[in-house]
Amino acid sequence: MEFSIAPLKTLSSLHTDCLVVFLQSSEQAAAALDEQAIDAIAAQAREDGDFSGQAGSTYLANRPQGLAARRLLLVGLGAGPTDAQCWRKAAEAACAALKGRAAARVHLVCADAQQPLIDAAVRAFGDFAYVYTATRKPDAEVGCRVRSLHILVAARQAAAARSRLQRAEAVQAGVDLCRDLANLPGNHCTPTHLGKVAQALGKRHKLKVEVLGPADIERERMGALRAVAQGSQQPARFIVLRYQGAARTQPPHVLVGKGVTFDSGGISLKPGAEMDEMKFDMAGAASVLGAFEAVARLRPKINLVGLIPATENLPGGTAVKPGDVVTSRSGQTIEILNTDAEGRLILCDALNYAERFKPASVVDIATLTGACVIALGHVHSGLFSPDDELAQALVDAAKASQDSCWRMPLGDEYAEGLRSRFADVANIAGRAAGSVTAACFLQRFTKAYRWAHLDIAGTAWKSGANKGATGRPVPLLVHYLLAQQPAAGARGRGGE
Ligand code: BES
Ligand code: MN
Ligand code: ZN
Repeated sequence: MEFSIAPLKTLSSLHTDCLVVFLQSSEQAAAALDEQAIDAIAAQAREDGDFSGQAGSTYLANRPQGLAARRLLLVGLGAGPTDAQCWRKAAEAACAALKGRAAARVHLVCADAQQPLIDAAVRAFGDFAYVYTATRKPDAEVGCRVRSLHILVAARQAAAARSRLQRAEAVQAGVDLCRDLANLPGNHCTPTHLGKVAQALGKRHKLKVEVLGPADIERERMGALRAVAQGSQQPARFIVLRYQGAARTQPPHVLVGKGVTFDSGGISLKPGAEMDEMKFDMAGAASVLGAFEAVARLRPKINLVGLIPATENLPGGTAVKPGDVVTSRSGQTIEILNTDAEGRLILCDALNYAERFKPASVVDIATLTGACVIALGHVHSGLFSPDDELAQALVDAAKASQDSCWRMPLGDEYAEGLRSRFADVANIAGRAAGSVTAACFLQRFTKAYRWAHLDIAGTAWKSGANKGATGRPVPLLVHYLLAQQPAAGARGRGGE
């Protein structure tokens, strides 16, 4: 979809397939636009009880009287303050109202055009327009027929709006890439394929990309990653991406993404129902690649490293078995009591590898535990960090980007369950607080730097009729990274 900022002039003479007007629920709001025709239609719709102005309410008028536009869509903002969440809801309601309609060119306007509208509109219409086409033809009847979206703003706001739009479009490009990759079936999206996608991304944006294979993984003594990979015919990969936007001497931020391209559970085999969804078990890796796509477009003044351990988790004659003890890259031995707790195994070697960069921060992103879905559902990603400042920075980024996360605890009391009689640590604890004990396992490998962990098991994809990847938490990650720029003369910073 094409997005642009357009100057706000007389609305009545604007030729468009649909003029979308955001209105607060108060009576005077329509009048604030100073457009009598819109005012009259809004007043009448209110009087007839067809439009309340409440957050997310809509009213569509065809061939609206007194306007050159073919359609007028009123969208309610409610009575409260118009925060990011309110804009998000309103923009999504606008998309829902346009579903199946033949409106190709759409213009958005709000009397008090606020910048968060731009983020909300790009996200909502971008998600609305997304279609998966890698392994199927699109449906005959298309939901989204919008081709271009124009956001009308007053001339004095145009420059700020354009830079905001540029940021929002870059985030959306990252979200789209993340969704495409995560949606790709396991037989297409192998560790080898992830490596190729990373290399192509590197070529496109002039990033340094290294893809390590099984021999390199052996040489790096990544025994935990090797253990997960050894049951599969597909060779493992360890992907390293580097973006340089600041002086070479600046410590980089590091993103680590779980890249299990299919998680059968291994010898501790998962039950059959919905096992197909374990193709999404590389969504953390996909979000790292998506974040790189956005960062490479926006070129913020930071250094960034992406690490992706990629493998399948399958049973077989050569697969790792419950009770096996392996040596991780850190030297700590791990008793693998359940081969289905494989994410933490591949991550612990990547987290240890991250030490070499002397990073400013390390954030890992993983579809790590079913327990996180039980704890937080599909609303918030789970955030774990012993560092209050880093946790707050991620919570702030989540709020600003409408890609929410919720802080969860860590602590020795939880870590106790990971004790093993035969190794330095076991890879599972009891059933209780499973997402926390998984994070505690990771924490053992992160002592050398500031670290946070995002468990995206509940937020990376949707199940059911609308099954598919969400692109989360790309918006959160990009907002976090942009906020890490030095304040003076920073580029691409929108601020909230
Ligand atoms: N990839 C899964 C986590 C998962 C499960 C994400 C369901 C989303 C939906 C992970 O590798 C896993 O299998 N975790 C186990 C850990 C357990 C064996 C301690 C789990 O959550 O059951
Ligand atoms: Mn698993
Ligand atoms: Zn997994």
